[in-house]
Amino acid sequence: MCGIVGGVGPSIQAAEVFDGLKRLEYRGYDSAGMALVGAEGVEVIRAATGRHSLDELKGRLSRLAPGANLVVGHTRWATHGAPTLGNAHPHTDCTGRVVLVHNGIVDNFRELRGEVLALGHELKSETDSEVIAHLIEDGLAAGMEPAEAVASVFSRLLGHMALVVAFAQLPLTIFGIRRTSPLLVAAGDGRSFFASDAPAVLDVATSFYEMPEDRVIAIGEPAKGAAGTSVLVPLAIDWASQDVELVGYQSFYEMELAQEGEAFSDTVSSLIDEDGGAVVDELKVDPYELKRLRKVTVVGCGTSYHAGLVGRFLIEHFAKIPVEVDVASEYRYRDPILDDDHLVVGVSQSGESLDTITAVKGAAAAGAKTLAVTNVIGSQLSRLADAVLYTRAGPEVSVASTKTHVSQVGALALFAIYLGELKGHMYPEEAREARSSLRDVASAIEAALARQAGYEESLAPFVGSDRFFFIGRNLQYPVALEGALKLKELSYLAAEAYPAGELKHGPIAMLDSEAVVVALVPRDRLREKVLANIEEVRARGARVIVVAFDGDPEAATLAETALFVPEVRPIWSPLVTVIPLQVMAGAIARSRGLNLDRPRNLAKTVTVE
Ligand code: G6P
Repeated sequence: MCGIVGGVGPSIQAAEVFDGLKRLEYRGYDSAGMALVGAEGVEVIRAATGRHSLDELKGRLSRLAPGANLVVGHTRWATHGAPTLGNAHPHTDCTGRVVLVHNGIVDNFRELRGEVLALGHELKSETDSEVIAHLIEDGLAAGMEPAEAVASVFSRLLGHMALVVAFAQLPLTIFGIRRTSPLLVAAGDGRSFFASDAPAVLDVATSFYEMPEDRVIAIGEPAKGAAGTSVLVPLAIDWASQDVELVGYQSFYEMELAQEGEAFSDTVSSLIDEDGGAVVDELKVDPYELKRLRKVTVVGCGTSYHAGLVGRFLIEHFAKIPVEVDVASEYRYRDPILDDDHLVVGVSQSGESLDTITAVKGAAAAGAKTLAVTNVIGSQLSRLADAVLYTRAGPEVSVASTKTHVSQVGALALFAIYLGELKGHMYPEEAREARSSLRDVASAIEAALARQAGYEESLAPFVGSDRFFFIGRNLQYPVALEGALKLKELSYLAAEAYPAGELKHGPIAMLDSEAVVVALVPRDRLREKVLANIEEVRARGARVIVVAFDGDPEAATLAETALFVPEVRPIWSPLVTVIPLQVMAGAIARSRGLNLDRPRNLAKTVTVE
């Protein structure tokens, strides 16, 4: 999704804003641009060469006059209008003295576009964003102050978005405003920044602030009619600039995969106190409210949704509360029956996925309690929920999630145990023991990761295949879904996931000797059933890979290849069986010469519907 970086203050370098955009690359983009604003006017450079756009911009940075005090930059993920040079941001008004960058969608864009065209403005792009610049131009022409013009136009825009605007007439001030879409303020060394995400400004800023919604904030020199930074609430960002540097690996995907044990361990440790009891990071409601819960719904998108599916088993197992899980984009348009003994859990790495935020917001409005499981302190999801559990995975840059997935499952497991204890289904001793056994899974994750080279060698005969099926039952079905998603995301191959018992109700018709079936068969109560399902697959001639616990030769005899993982309690098995599948997706994508960090068409944080 679009990324925004804007900086103002003594000697802001275009290169610094450029570096910020580079650090937002993971959001996904297909064109990019920057503008330098001075009293004499606005200078804009743009590039629309897909994922090479930033490289192209870099070559032209020197064209921007050095020593400026105000620079805005943008990476665009096309929504309205193709990813062309003309549609790339920043956009300007007819005078060329109002410049803006925008993230999100203006829902009433058609009507507004008609209006500005009727007023005689000349539109240079097909975007919804440019229309905003012309409306602001009209506001100025009507005698409004810049801040007033931004506020007045923004109040007419329907939808979720973030906007950063600068004016040649005020070359020491930038204005920002947002509704749902992410935008934060950061400061350091006498300079101030707007950014979509903290990693963009980690090396230039020392303090970070939340932005309120629907309110114009001015950074740099104070401006008439706008709120200054003194009204902002500080954010406790504890990430460091080096956390987003690629060191020792070819890709962030591989680096973050290698960090998985540590991410899981840091997450779980932070949610267990010194006495082995539970920690809830932010609890804005009385625990009594959670004790009386009678239903839980978990919502999320992509990999986070899959963590939620694992969470369902964990919560039902430990807390004995019925749980449903839904894709956030579906849930938000249902008519769920909610009341105050219902908890809606939003799982989101970024805490900024629009679908998850709106699903949780809707549930809160309908009277449900809400919990956020997120990796980003101060993200919108964390702010709106009644309680928050943070995953402590550190920044995740690769579009395809790895370390945050196991961290989310760890956090949900601890929440399940917490609820189980709170509701009297577990004695404190039992809860402590369960937490401690969960903490021990970190070493099994590390041990599985240490086998990466072995997994890749075993998988070599399959890298040329182009049809994969992932099967598992019970706790392993979400793992199968995650394995298929990873492969789709990274390798663009057809990969399907099914509950193993469902295969014979249709999908088995697709199997032949070209198909590869990856069967998840840890030693649990459904192992025999899955072994029988594997026999059904073999009988149709498909090639089989099994993922099994160490010391399970029987599972291995049914397969062409076995990927063994260290044995853990069956209830924790999704935390280790997912690892060979994450390795597999990376290995196949690499063998196909694909970019592991920025798969085509994908964005890491989807801030539009
Ligand atoms: C996008 C990404 C997925 C990610 C999903 C949820 O679709 O491409 O990899 O799992 O968003 O993101 P979130 O930040 O809400 O966990």
